[in-house]
Amino acid sequence: MKIQRVSSKWAKTNAILLNPTLSNYIPDTRKYNFSTLVEMLAVHATVYVKPDRGTYGSGVMRAEQRLVSLAPSIQADGSEDRKAVRKEEKTMYILRYNKTAQIFASPQELHEAILGRTQGKFYLIQKGIDLLRHHDRPFDLRVLAQKTPIGTWETTGMLGRVAAPHKIVTNYHNGGRIFQVNTLFKEHMTPSESSTAIQQLKQLGVQIAGQLELSYPGIKEIGLDVALDQHHNMWLLEVNTLPSIIVFKMFPDKSIYRRIHRYAVAYGRLKKSEGTVSSRRKAL
Ligand SMILES: Nc1ncnc2c1ncn2[C@@H]1O[C@H](COP(=O)(O)OP(=O)(O)O)[C@@H](O)[C@H]1O
Ligand SMILES: [Mg+2]
Repeated sequence: MKIQRVSSKWAKTNAILLNPTLSNYIPDTRKYNFSTLVEMLAVHATVYVKPDRGTYGSGVMRAEQRLVSLAPSIQADGSEDRKAVRKEEKTMYILRYNKTAQIFASPQELHEAILGRTQGKFYLIQKGIDLLRHHDRPFDLRVLAQKTPIGTWETTGMLGRVAAPHKIVTNYHNGGRIFQVNTLFKEHMTPSESSTAIQQLKQLGVQIAGQLELSYPGIKEIGLDVALDQHHNMWLLEVNTLPSIIVFKMFPDKSIYRRIHRYAVAYGRLKKSEGTVSSRRKAL
């Protein structure tokens, strides 16, 4: 049977939101329009705007609303401007994408700039998560869950992705670097916190897979993009139904990839001999 793939982030998000426990992992996510932009900025200050059917971090933007204090201006006669003495504050709007940042004075101008990039396509707006960092660069995690040959779900792989300098996305196809989860966690957690978090991620992989399977019975593998915020809370940014497998080959523990490969052969993604080079599209 053909492996089911689902490209709409909106559809997958709604399938997960049907489960009240799992809905706690989903950051506030809505359909993009001017009023959701204004509302979400008022509540979250930072939001991500992304294509419903995007991959590789393409088209992803970040919008921020910031209160900026204006420096007191000095009048020609040397007396301070009266307004400035009252420490005038102004709201500014920042739009970031690729390595670009643009500043706007109103939400209307910000919206116009976003529309210029969305080109009429369906975009989502999501609460921005303040990601943990590795050497001052944000990182998130990829968690791979697969159908086992006996028909259960298992989390079979996990890795960290660190954003390239000045990028707002961590995707490998956007210059992100791959790390072992342990390496990244030990900069923020004790060994016991780290192993608890890894256990939680494994569980999350299995739970999300089980939930998505209720709406999409033909899925066999998923890749979760999980963010950790400054309080180490876990957030599910998106779920890929055609996750990269080959990327797990680079880890020194070869048994990890061998199991991933064995399961992928069992459910028909790979042929037994295949797997050294994957010609399939890899959404990491
Ligand atoms: N809500 C968010 N908060 C913080 N970072 C985000 C958010 N949404 C996306 N990102 C960053 O952008 C990357 C790409 O977004 P994602 O939703 O995974 O789309 P894609 O399908 O293009 O990979 C994520 O891996 C993450 O680094
Ligand atoms: Mg992604």
